[in-house]
Amino acid sequence: MTSKKLWGGRFSSEADPLFDRFNASLPFDHVLLESDIQGNLAYARALERAGVFTARERDRVERGLRSILIAHRKNPRLVVESKAEDVHTYVEQELEKRVGRLALKLHTGRSRNDQVATDLRLFLRSRCEEIEKSLNDLLRAIGGMADQNREAILPGYTHLQRAQPVLFSHYLLAYGEQFLRDRERLRQTSARANVCPLGSGAVSGTVYGIGRDELARDLGFEMSSDNSVDSVSDRDFLLDFLFFSSTLMVHLSRLAEDLILYNSSEFGFIRLDDSVAGGSSLMPQKKNPDALELIRGKSGRVYGHLISLLTVLKGLPAAYNKDLQEDKESFFDAAQTVDNCTRMMSLVLQRTRILPDRMKEACLRGYLNATELADYLVAKKMPFRSAHELVGRIVLRAMELDVPLEQLPLEEYQNLSPLFKSDLYQALKLETSLSRRGEKGGTAPMQVRKALQAFRKKIER
Ligand code: ARG
Repeated sequence: MTSKKLWGGRFSSEADPLFDRFNASLPFDHVLLESDIQGNLAYARALERAGVFTARERDRVERGLRSILIAHRKNPRLVVESKAEDVHTYVEQELEKRVGRLALKLHTGRSRNDQVATDLRLFLRSRCEEIEKSLNDLLRAIGGMADQNREAILPGYTHLQRAQPVLFSHYLLAYGEQFLRDRERLRQTSARANVCPLGSGAVSGTVYGIGRDELARDLGFEMSSDNSVDSVSDRDFLLDFLFFSSTLMVHLSRLAEDLILYNSSEFGFIRLDDSVAGGSSLMPQKKNPDALELIRGKSGRVYGHLISLLTVLKGLPAAYNKDLQEDKESFFDAAQTVDNCTRMMSLVLQRTRILPDRMKEACLRGYLNATELADYLVAKKMPFRSAHELVGRIVLRAMELDVPLEQLPLEEYQNLSPLFKSDLYQALKLETSLSRRGEKGGTAPMQVRKALQAFRKKIER
């Protein structure tokens, strides 16, 4: 059974308890409490400008609101355990306990429609700040790991087949770039949401001279919104956030997948730390990459939240409908999940050990230097397509003899083309293959050093 409603006057019979529970959003929107109070404080000042509150009344209301905040910080269970319909109702009821009938004036000219839209934007802004910190830590963890493993050479894969060697740091910086773009998307999300809907009322705007631009500035928004109908309809800013979150989860999940593979004994390129692994209840020998599997798995729920909100919004008539209450759990859960996953990934990276010898060994099996041989022929003026064909035959021959290209005798090469000379063995070396990729964006050690420096600068931007 919920407590007194904000809208009871017009009703002649009591709400059914089943409806009350069904209708209530407090069980999840209580996380908006701090944002709601922030919005209320600014709105009290706006009502003073409008002449609804005297300075003394506004002062009493402000003190009442602050005392709710203090009580909440002391005991966060208070709001969770209350029977109020939603967080806005809770705050108003608590204020009434503190300042009496004056509390009933605070909602003048305001609707929960513009109020909740404002709370959500304030909350989003603070979550974005938190998540940006976690992302920055992750970016630094990547930079640190790349720096500590400058020499390690990893087989680069295409189609999950060993393809060409790359520096391990080069590979890591690929994820660095992805997370930098995620941070950019996060910042854009936050910037686009930085518009204040308060003062839009239920749908048509307000009759009170509250000074919407001043109100927006007071709450730290860039500006006030331009259209009252849009203000209470719009949840694009949550879609932006969920899209950012989903993309971040794609990147986290792919990195998790790589690390799970690299940690398996089949690859054996890295060793995950015990502190971020789980065990088996049956098989005593097992050490499972639980942290990474959970990151990979949690991507599913975040994508689900994006689709969920898109579906909630599709087909809604203009302005507020109660369907919009269904925006919250998706958003709150996504925000919590991406922050947790980002922080978990940083921890995993900080504690992961690289096994460069195993990586290098894998680079020496599987003909990763076949392209070098084609390029060798290109340098001798053979068209690339013909070189490709010829080297294909050489690889086939080496496979027949079960040797790597660097152990195939020179006569075998010369049987297929007189262009081959003994210097071909130099071209086949791992180090040669790396250092030749010296154009921007390539894996040459000199380029990667520069890229790492640039990456560190980008992190701090
Ligand atoms: N709890 C509601 C929500 O989250 C607040 C807005 C209620 N507005 C209304 N017209 N009933 O959407």
